[in-house]
Amino acid sequence: MEIIKEINKNILAKDICFIPTMGALHKGHVSLIKEGKQSSLPVIVSIFVNEMQFNDKEDFNNYPKPIEEDIKVLENFNVDYLFIPENDYVYPKNNFEKVSSGELGKQFEGSSRPGHFDGVLTVVNRFFELIRPKIAIFGKKDAQQLFLINEMVVNKKYEIEIIASPTIRESSGLALSSRNSLLTNRGKDKAALLYKVLKSTKKDFYSTGKTNFLENFSSNYLDEEIDIDYLEILDLATFSKPAENTEEFIILIAAYIENLRLIDNIDFKLEGK
Ligand code: PAF
Repeated sequence: MEIIKEINKNILAKDICFIPTMGALHKGHVSLIKEGKQSSLPVIVSIFVNEMQFNDKEDFNNYPKPIEEDIKVLENFNVDYLFIPENDYVYPKNNFEKVSSGELGKQFEGSSRPGHFDGVLTVVNRFFELIRPKIAIFGKKDAQQLFLINEMVVNKKYEIEIIASPTIRESSGLALSSRNSLLTNRGKDKAALLYKVLKSTKKDFYSTGKTNFLENFSSNYLDEEIDIDYLEILDLATFSKPAENTEEFIILIAAYIENLRLIDNIDFKLEGK
């Protein structure tokens, strides 16, 4: 594995598969890497904790940064390039495009994390400009991020294939996330409730067709355990409220556990459609 701080001509000459990360790699990232390896293209993984997408300085400072362990993981999986750029390389002074995530960027995750998606799109766009990948892989756990990136690729007419990789879960149902390492064992048990809530919400939706989930929940039970920020069902194709002709749905949840913000989602097709 070659560790690089800047993109060179060799890389630009190749059709390459790009996997952006912020490090603190876990099995979810490993599954992205395995997916990348299947493309049979050389794989470049970036590790860059993008301060621009953190609306909360403390969250940025606390974000786990175990670089030595990350390097071992990537070496084990025979990744071709590890790209660890400096901030000035990604963001040359006043000379980069700030990408707006528009109205959708202000909703759901964006409503609690102002500026977050502008930061995500700006850095992903910079990486696309620098690396010019043929394929880029993102996790489905960050569903709104994935949607906005797909939209950006269409708007900017990038010829990049975006692969959405399924969420990896612990046996408890807890979706893997770099932030999980900051939870206590008790916190992890509570965090596993997110997936349970998603599944029972899906059941509710099937049986009642109602979409005002939070009002339907016995909030006492949930409040004691987890502090839910939003629980929404959307049309997966438009990321807006489901319509008559919606075929695929996504239920999103965000909650605070031990002061950490966790998100998860499930998507599904309505049976019989
Ligand atoms: O999903 C992430 O880890 C980040 O948002 C990404 C895509 C690497 C951009 O910093």
